[in-house]
Amino acid sequence: MADEPLRLRIAEICDALRRTNHYVHTPEELSFGARIAWRNHARCVGRLTWKSLRVHDHRHIAAPAAVLEQTMADLKAAFNGGQIRSSISIFAPATDKSLPSTFESSQIFRYAGYATADEGVMGDRANIELTHTARQLGWQPPETPGPFDLLPVILRDQNGGRHAFAIPPSTAREVLIEHPTRPDLAALGLRWYAVPIVSNMALTIGGIDYPCAPFNGYYLATEIASRNLVDAKRYDLLEPIAHALGLVTDAHGPAFWKDEALTELNRAVLHSFEKAGVRIMDHHEVSAQYMNFMQLEQRAGRTASGEWSWIVPPQASAGCPTFHLPMTNLHAVPNFYHSRYIDGGTLRLDRTHMRDGKWRSRYERLKRRWRDWRRRRDRIWQRS
Ligand code: ARG
Repeated sequence: MADEPLRLRIAEICDALRRTNHYVHTPEELSFGARIAWRNHARCVGRLTWKSLRVHDHRHIAAPAAVLEQTMADLKAAFNGGQIRSSISIFAPATDKSLPSTFESSQIFRYAGYATADEGVMGDRANIELTHTARQLGWQPPETPGPFDLLPVILRDQNGGRHAFAIPPSTAREVLIEHPTRPDLAALGLRWYAVPIVSNMALTIGGIDYPCAPFNGYYLATEIASRNLVDAKRYDLLEPIAHALGLVTDAHGPAFWKDEALTELNRAVLHSFEKAGVRIMDHHEVSAQYMNFMQLEQRAGRTASGEWSWIVPPQASAGCPTFHLPMTNLHAVPNFYHSRYIDGGTLRLDRTHMRDGKWRSRYERLKRRWRDWRRRRDRIWQRS
């Protein structure tokens, strides 16, 4: 923006803030802010394409049912026949007077987790509480509950009341997991939904918070194959998967069967998504992309925030270039956060460029002094 319109806009915002403690973003500010929030978010390894984020402006929508309906409509466009596009749907902002509807579900698609009679768990351990809440809100699990039962989406309305909405399973476009050469894996009946839509993070732009702003990208195979299906606190399936792949899970010697099973499961997830025509990436490809992103940011004179334990993949870590990078999280705004008391409390303006400025001006001052001193010395020498 040119200087004069920018000055006017800032004056307008300051005035609105003084009067109402709030201001309304223009559609351009909203789109730009959402993209910068993505660019600033230290935990995302897929930020190379931040400029292409599709931003849907739904600030006029506030009721829970309408919020969900619109999110599902935007999902159709994001799915794009399998060529998934990264997008965000932004609903009403929070103000002093009102909190809009928000998602309680951490993602739109979540699989139930049930406690079983033998003190075990069937399904996704991460969603045991959500499953319990859904039941209390009247949701009935299928007659024979399974490990991949889609939960209803749970939202809170303006008054904090909870609502559960069942979604048609077909919207999840699940991919059945099979291995390209080892047919026994398919018999485990593993599956995963096509599009991750994170729904419980607030977007913050220029001091305005949008607590209802679900966003989607596309999957990285490791998210499903190295974490969701195998983490002890998720599906915990590494051993049965290893057996299905024909590996011997011998208790003696190094447990390399784990490494092998993880690699083969990654291969299977990539193969299955590709076969189903659903966009997915592997960790080597995305790590290379991230290096590219870092370089472009550096060239633009910015410091890219990164959180090492989130950026470095859980597979072949040191075999990926990101492993060898120092990373810092500047917690710059705009950004996404979960809670003001946890990750939101550390967010602040990125002042690194000002620090650079401070050092640069010190350096310039020293250089000037040195130059003056030399001139004076030369004058003295000429005199003598
Ligand atoms: N890790 C989460 C999951 O496994 C998804 C987070 C977002 N991932 C993404 N590729 N945009 O469901």
